[in-house]
Amino acid sequence: MSFLSIQGISKAYVGSEGKIQVLKDLTLDLDAGRIHAIAGASGCGKTTLLMLCGGLIFPDSGTIILDGEDLLALSPGARAVRRASLVGFVFQRFHLIPYLNVEQNIMASCVARPVANAHQRCDELMQRLQLEHRRGHIPARLSAGEQQRVALGRALMNRPSLLVADEPTGNLDEENTALLLALLRDFTEDGGMVLMATHDSAVAAVADHRYIYHDGRFGVVPE
Ligand SMILES: Nc1ncnc2c1ncn2[C@@H]1O[C@H](COP(=O)(O)OP(=O)(O)OP(=O)(O)O)[C@@H](O)[C@H]1O
Ligand SMILES: [Mg+2]
Repeated sequence: MSFLSIQGISKAYVGSEGKIQVLKDLTLDLDAGRIHAIAGASGCGKTTLLMLCGGLIFPDSGTIILDGEDLLALSPGARAVRRASLVGFVFQRFHLIPYLNVEQNIMASCVARPVANAHQRCDELMQRLQLEHRRGHIPARLSAGEQQRVALGRALMNRPSLLVADEPTGNLDEENTALLLALLRDFTEDGGMVLMATHDSAVAAVADHRYIYHDGRFGVVPE
């Protein structure tokens, strides 16, 4: 069975401006140990799909099975526990905690789930993400690329099985993009699954599987 199975998902947003049908009867089966990249025009629904897969928002219909468990059938408390133990998020707009410094933002993952040798792991992540010299800085005193790397460190801190990353290289230069892709590859070689949205075709090219948006669905791009 796939690690993440999305079955017949539909999702619309309804507001005073009317209804926006984003996803229509989308079915995808995604394996662990792989980097999956989703692409499509701005506003097509990439972030929506990522939030659904991580159990942060809910579809209007359909089923999401994560590691053998129906996410939508769980109680809110059980879903939160499952998310904390399985999923790490890198949000498109980072959502770092503004009054915590780099080290504290990365360590914040340990609140949801204790991590063995947490300080050592945090140090290793800061080193790999070239953030050590900024460890005492709050997000407002960081560049956008540095903030993006902190967001990745926080997402990886408690060793999730699924890393959901929304445009994770959007603010990175070439060197840091390569560094991030190497980290993602190490993560999948250890058995983790990456689901990322990206506008960067060079980044998508590194993925094992690519999906492109068309008419409410993300279809597999043939090799
Ligand atoms: N909370 C919301 N309420 C109403 N409409 C929304 C909401 N969130 C997103 N949308 C709309 O749904 C559509 C899909 O949004 P989404 O953020 O998933 O796109 P995206 O593919 O991630 O875009 P981008 O590449 O710009 O990040 C857009 O048209 C957006 O305006
Ligand atoms: Mg988006």
